[in-house]
Amino acid sequence: MDPIAAADAPYAVELEAGTVYVWCACGRSKAQPYCDGSHVGTGLAPKVFKAEKSGTAYLCACKRTKTKPYCDGSHKTT
Ligand code: FES
Repeated sequence: MDPIAAADAPYAVELEAGTVYVWCACGRSKAQPYCDGSHVGTGLAPKVFKAEKSGTAYLCACKRTKTKPYCDGSHKTT
C-alpha cells in the first residue's frame, strides 16, 4: 500500500536530544506524527530515529518527504 497524507503541513514537535522516536510513515496512525501500529498489513514500516538536538522540529505529515522523518517541503507539491 502507499502512504497516505495525515495532514498537508508538517507537525511542529518538541524533540529531546538523544531520545528515540518512531515516526509514522504510512499516514494511518491516530497518534501523528508518531507510530501507533496502524501500519500492520500495509507493507510499510515506521522510521525509528534519534533526535540529535533538543528543540522544535518539523516532522512530515504528508508522508512524501525524501528526508524522513523531517519535512523537506514536498507537501507543497502535488
Ligand atoms: S509535511 Fe511532508 S514534506 Fe512537508
